[in-house]
Amino acid sequence: MQQKILILDFGSQTTQLIGRRIRELDTFCEIVPYNKFPENDESIIGVILSGSPYSVYDKEAFKIDLDKIKGKYPVLGICYGAQFISYTSGGNVEPAGSREYGRQNLEFIDKENPLFKGFDDNSQVWMSHGDTITAIPKDYKVIASTQKVENAAFYCEKDRIWGVQFHPEVFHSLQGTLLLKNFAVRICGSKQDWSAASFIDTTVKELKEQLKDDKIVLGLSGGVDSSVAAVLLNKAVGKNLTCIFVNNGLLRKNEFEDVLRDYECLGLNVKGVDASEKFYKELSGVEEPEKKRKIIGKGFIDVFNAEAQKITDVKWLGQGTIYPDRIESLNITGKTIKSHHNVGGLPKEMQLELCEPLKWLFKDEVRRVGKELGMPEHLIKRHPFPGPGLGVRILGDITPEKVRILQDADDIFIKGLKNWKIKNSDGVEISLYDSVWQAGVILLPVKSVGVMGDERTYERAVALRAVTSTDAMTADWAHLPYEFLAKVSNDIINNVKGVNRVAYDISSKPPATIEWE
Ligand code: XMP
Repeated sequence: MQQKILILDFGSQTTQLIGRRIRELDTFCEIVPYNKFPENDESIIGVILSGSPYSVYDKEAFKIDLDKIKGKYPVLGICYGAQFISYTSGGNVEPAGSREYGRQNLEFIDKENPLFKGFDDNSQVWMSHGDTITAIPKDYKVIASTQKVENAAFYCEKDRIWGVQFHPEVFHSLQGTLLLKNFAVRICGSKQDWSAASFIDTTVKELKEQLKDDKIVLGLSGGVDSSVAAVLLNKAVGKNLTCIFVNNGLLRKNEFEDVLRDYECLGLNVKGVDASEKFYKELSGVEEPEKKRKIIGKGFIDVFNAEAQKITDVKWLGQGTIYPDRIESLNITGKTIKSHHNVGGLPKEMQLELCEPLKWLFKDEVRRVGKELGMPEHLIKRHPFPGPGLGVRILGDITPEKVRILQDADDIFIKGLKNWKIKNSDGVEISLYDSVWQAGVILLPVKSVGVMGDERTYERAVALRAVTSTDAMTADWAHLPYEFLAKVSNDIINNVKGVNRVAYDISSKPPATIEWE
């Protein structure tokens, strides 16, 4: 059985980061809302309580019955998690005189504690809280302080509970990963056997058991998630997998042909369906973004359905859903916010069962699995691309001519990003393309005046968009070199007929979004 660390989410912005750090330790973990502790799950080896936007004494604060986990598993409380443990076990939490925020250094009281094994003296940690633990419960011991925070870390031997008021998951806690490793490995006994190779072995075995001799269809998008899902499924069930790749006329330049060739080289049983004309016809004259999305989504299901029904006895629908698509994250009201787009969409009338082999993986893990499966780099490192494709990057109505203009401009930008090399923070040469999360061009619904030769022009404007991000929930505009932007702008204006102006989008998310529509 795959061991698991369970992370109870009390609504902190850094809960997902705790999960990523634990996974980086080759230890499987699952994030669940604070009130959804799974019953009878024997694979749990330890529990982490996250931070929270609340104070423990707030009326609306998220609460759990700690007695249900105390003594059963090792527990680590982080920030609110630590304060909650203290508050509900007989200690005291009060508003801090001033907000305890920023870098501080640990002074150890029990440096031999397993949580601090290997720590340097004065190790830097990151605090961020408005409350502070003023008294720890009876039977608990303080194991580290800082100049400002007396009860920075505590421990209860009897109940195997640890609490830290700082955030080990953030970058500024310089030995934070070591602390999480000490918890996961030394204290909980993680075997650190969660790796791309072990994931592939177990998943292929499970898929074989689950699907047996059944037939399965999967819609490919050209993106990394559906491609990796397809290769995994192909390994498990071979020709019983049929992949369908639909050209909705809104893909990037030459993408349909290029990606189809890649898929065939990977040995996938793939059917390419060019339905561009259908999509252009249905989208003609439609300006409203959500309406365009709906038409494109429905068009995909129509085409996919028609193709899938040509396969006899198909029982399963494969999807490349990944973990962040499914994590139920909490907002301050305690309501679950569902944020991503590619969950659901199962054509009801087909009555297929859903098979999602990547549903536990973060994006970087999907890429690691893809690499381990021997997939080509350019497929694995592909940027995310929205399902409605260029349809949401042409503001206003869509025509084949506008698609052509956008494809040409986008092709220059993307190729430019791939060809322009920089050194990353480790001094390794990488392309600008690999240094950003996602990039693309947006065709704006404005025309502006320009001059070309002796002629006055009145043509379209495009915006370049490139962002850095870890999960698309938040994003910053990428600080691309001016020389690069100058070159791309020149290349677009000189080569793409119909465009005489290029702008660069310098908005972050929030308050903007990555796409413009
Ligand atoms: P936003 O624009 O919401 O985008 O900041 C976040 C991420 O989601 C992608 N995106 C979509 N993906 N269907 C999709 O499959 C959509 O309608 C859609 N809209 C945005 C976007 O490209 C980014 O990666």
